[in-house]
Amino acid sequence: MADKIDWQEAMSVGNPLIDDQHRQLINIYNWLVELEQESVSAVDQLFVQLLNYASEHFACEEECFHHADHPLFDAHKQEHDDFLDKVLHLQQEWESSKTLILHEVKSFLREWLLEHICISDKNLFDRMEE
Ligand SMILES: [Fe+2]
Repeated sequence: MADKIDWQEAMSVGNPLIDDQHRQLINIYNWLVELEQESVSAVDQLFVQLLNYASEHFACEEECFHHADHPLFDAHKQEHDDFLDKVLHLQQEWESSKTLILHEVKSFLREWLLEHICISDKNLFDRMEE
């Protein structure tokens, strides 16, 4: 079973609004980890919640970066778009198989959130302050 993620100060990008949104994304992931396999409707809802929340959050982050006119903006936006594509794809697979892919969903989310927040986002926010 995938482990839950504990928010740590080291994950902060230095922007309180974005940090709050990251904590919320991590909460959604943690709720998914806590769910029993058979909670089909709860997983259905979490997919919807994750897609809605991630889209809102990415739009907010992209707004920050866009104003800063940063050279890494396009690549970063691509990471966000790829994430949404992947989650949509996983949601479709979930719709057809229900239990089979939950493990894959959890490990993908865990890896992506940790890497994206701790490396990509931090990197970009650090450079914006330079
Ligand atoms: Fe990001």
